Amino acid sequence: MTTVLSVKFTPISLPAQLSRNSRNFFCKPPLSLSSIFSRSFTAKVRASSTAFVEAKPEDPIVVEKEVGAGIKNLACPICYNLLTLDGPALSLATSAGSSLQCNTCKKTYSGNESHIDLTAASGSKQYGEYISLTTEFFRLPLISFLYERGWRQNFIWGGFPGPEKEFEMMKNYLEPVLGGNIIDASCGSGLFSRLFAKSGLFSHVVALDYSENMLQQCYEFIEKEENFPKEKITLVRADISRLPFASSSVDAVHAGAAIHCWPSPTTAVAEISRVLQPGGVFVATTYVLDGPFTFYPFVRILRENLTAISGNQIFLSERELEEVCRTCGLVDFTCTRNQLFVMFSARKPN
Ligand SMILES: C[S@@+](CC[C@H](N)C(=O)[O-])C[C@H]1O[C@@H](n2cnc3c(N)ncnc32)[C@H](O)[C@@H]1O
Repeated sequence: MTTVLSVKFTPISLPAQLSRNSRNFFCKPPLSLSSIFSRSFTAKVRASSTAFVEAKPEDPIVVEKEVGAGIKNLACPICYNLLTLDGPALSLATSAGSSLQCNTCKKTYSGNESHIDLTAASGSKQYGEYISLTTEFFRLPLISFLYERGWRQNFIWGGFPGPEKEFEMMKNYLEPVLGGNIIDASCGSGLFSRLFAKSGLFSHVVALDYSENMLQQCYEFIEKEENFPKEKITLVRADISRLPFASSSVDAVHAGAAIHCWPSPTTAVAEISRVLQPGGVFVATTYVLDGPFTFYPFVRILRENLTAISGNQIFLSERELEEVCRTCGLVDFTCTRNQLFVMFSARKPN
């Protein structure tokens, strides 16, 4: 059930605070974006315009990039029919002030400076929805501010290898879909979304989160970066349980450190399964708790209480994660573990 992948650590560009800490942790040299392109990729990817990812000096691979293509598969979160947009295809470069229409529901979804709100409740004036403690927690401005300024680094105590290494690991799982589009689901302040966009490995990146403040942080980080490819990324506010994408229209979904924050992992994974194309890949990280000591009564009681208080399924076991994927129609579950950390992947059958 468990596949251990060998991971070659390659430094990448990260926000100053994160890269500094992780670099010390792994004692690695300074980061550079060009090093991403020195990584070997064996995946066969489609070719159109000219971006070369060098697999080996003698074996260049062409990654399809629809430069400035924007996103075209956004759907109404109420009826799932495709939304229509007046003007250029949507990306961060064009989304400010733009609006998308659902011709079936006769509803308009509007974008502000940082993101477009594609929650079902978007446009509500009186109604405010409380989803779960964890979901609401990440909506707080202070948490969004702190997230990449120290908070995320603490995940190493649970066995998370750190963002640089996680990025390298997930690229192994994503090899079959490089060149396609990717949703960074529950992206937080966009740590991985920004790396995906800058890597040039995907035609378009959707940074998706329920927290307006996390998306605002992501936007501010992007604004601070010179020459960030804004046409390659769109920031979307959405609920993981109601993804605003057409069915079978997404090549890859990444969900870093997020499943334990979702109110219903099965509803969320079912949605991910719906939007993935045949052959599409889901890759995620979370905490797992299993093994012999979970039979101790206090561990079970602790888990039950944590679930009751938070409203989230914190600490699933590897078997439960596999079952969630399988029951939601995903196959070929595989994972890599380190202490409580797990990175797992499953794909939509062809
Ligand atoms: C721990 S952060 C993970 C951030 C980032 N992916 C990472 O790897 O560090 C969890 C994120 O899940 C988001 N989240 C929680 N409930 C959600 C929901 N129902 N729909 C979408 N995102 C949600 C939170 O807003 C938060 O940004």
